Formats: sequence, C-alpha cells, structure tokens
Amino acid sequence: MTDFTHDLKTTIGRLTARGKGILAADESTATISKRFEAVGIATTEDNRRAYRDLLMTTPNINAFIAGVILFEETLNQQNLQSTPFPQALADAGILAGIKVDKGLIPLQNTNNEMVTQGLDGLPQRLAEYKAKGASFAKWRAVYTISANTPSCLAIAANAEVLARYAACCQEAGIVPMVEPEVLIDGEHTIEQCEIASRAVLHAVFNALFAHKVNLAYTVLKPSMVINGKACRMPASVQAVADATLRVLRATVPATVPTINFLSGGQTPQQATAHLNAMNAKGSLPWNVSFSYARALQDNCMKAWAGQSTAVAAAQQAFYQRAKLNSLAALGNYEEAMEK
Ligand code: 13P
Repeated sequence: MTDFTHDLKTTIGRLTARGKGILAADESTATISKRFEAVGIATTEDNRRAYRDLLMTTPNINAFIAGVILFEETLNQQNLQSTPFPQALADAGILAGIKVDKGLIPLQNTNNEMVTQGLDGLPQRLAEYKAKGASFAKWRAVYTISANTPSCLAIAANAEVLARYAACCQEAGIVPMVEPEVLIDGEHTIEQCEIASRAVLHAVFNALFAHKVNLAYTVLKPSMVINGKACRMPASVQAVADATLRVLRATVPATVPTINFLSGGQTPQQATAHLNAMNAKGSLPWNVSFSYARALQDNCMKAWAGQSTAVAAAQQAFYQRAKLNSLAALGNYEEAMEK
C-alpha cells in the first residue's frame, strides 16, 4: 500500500496557515438551486459554473482562503478560461477539496433522524478524486435538537460512518474534514445545544479513535454552540464563544491541528463575530478558523444575481467577507470594520 504520509502532512500544513480559512462551495445541485432561486438566479449548469468561477478567480483571495471544497460537478468542470477548476485553484495557491458524502437518508427506528450515506465504493472514488487534484474531503452528518433528539442511536450511527469515511480518506492520502453539524433549526436554548454538541463530539472522537484515524491529519468542521433560530432567548456573542470553547476543550484532543467552523444559518456578521470572540481569548490548543458557505457567499451571490456586469462587485463582496473572517481567525476583527 502506498504511504501517503508526505501528502497528508503537506495538505494539513497548508490548511492550518494562520489567518486562512476554507470556502465551502460544495453545495449539491439541489442546495445551490435553492440559494440561486432565493436571489432570482436561473438554476443552470452554466450559471453554477460562472458563479463558482467568479468565487475562485477573485483577485488575491488566496491571502485569506487556503482551500475550497468543491461539489463533484465542479471538480470535473473547466473554468471560464477552459482550465479545470482544481488546476486553476492550484495555480492560485489554493487547495481543492471535495464533498464525498452522498447526502442524508432516514435512520430507521428514530424520530425522523438522518444518517449520511456514501461509504459504498468510497475508496475507488477517493482515488479518482485524488488523481483529479483533490487533497482533502468533506463528509457532513446532521443532528436535530428536540425533546428526544439527537438520540443515542443517531449519535452512534453517524459517528461510526464519519470515522469509517475519515479512515478511507487517510488511506487514500486525502485529509478528512469531519463535519458533525448540530442544526440551528428549532427553539432550543444554547444550554440544550451545549449538551447535544458535547455528546455528538464525544461520540465522533471515540469512533475516530476506534478506527485508528490519525488526528494529526484531520480537520474538524463543527457547528458552533448556539441557541436555535426560533429561540426566544438569543445568546450573546460571548456566551456562544464560551459555550463553544467549553465543549471543544472537553471533547477535541489537542492533536487535532485545526477546527474550521461551518456557519449553519448564522448571518455573515454573526459568524465572523463568534469566530473572532473565540480567537480573541487566545491560547487555544488548535488553530480555530472558518469553513463557511453561506456566511462567505451570501453578500456575493446577492451582488452577482446572475449578471455578468456585476462580477467585479460580487468579487469585492466576497473578498471583503473573506478578509473579515481572516481577521476573526486571528482575533483581530472589530464590528466597526463592517462599515
Ligand atoms: P454553511 O456555512 O452555509 O453552514 O455551509 C457549510 C457547509 O459546508 C455545509 O455542509
């Protein structure tokens, strides 16, 4: 079996560059269609390609972005200059990642909970993705908070598949980005989210240990510990930062080099402020940065709205958001910078 240690080391070294984060541009066709429709963009392959080209060709974006997670369609496409997207990213000094899970299916004998599928044939797909230029890969599991969820069954089932996927990635020389997302939907309090997040992360790291996943070559992409969107008692920025760090310190070994949060439905400004508040505390055992989709893209997608004349303005919006998040990853962001 090929020893890919050198590849894993190189990739994780680049993904942990201080002040850099990851752009999640790996929305499935169904998800990007929803986002496009919301701002009046037609859902065609040409538009998906043009939009993702706009993101990835933003001048000097590599100052803030170390890697971009792609959907399989984009990995196989060429950009508007007829260069394959992974090659164009490499030319810009940015790593290409790939979403490798195949989405959610119901988990039987639970209260509408889901498990993530995609393990069948994964080693073959990973070899193919690596040959096409992917150096890291993402797998997302989701957990809902309600009176009786997340259940022990959903927590255990998702932990098991996350760990098996991560082991497959490392065997293929691809850095796994393990994404357990405790969903923000609902009326739950930040305290309920803290309890659920702690149980989820504890199970994930237990499974990663059982499957002998090397944490030194693993990225954790968690949700922040935050109240539900419909909760009547929204938590302060400090409370979110404190609760999130409390849970991470209790469950995530210091061997994990980097934690890159998802934004999960927070506004762009909230996601930046929360990230900054964590880094402003200093002396964290891991690099703490971002891997946002919506919080990096929302303003940009609205500014573009499918108009070729708006590309420069859209790129400017993306650049500005990425820059603020880069500052937040160093604890140097201030709200006044939003103006
Ligand atoms: P959001 O930042 O929009 O939550 O997306 C991150 C992601 O990759 C979801 O899987």
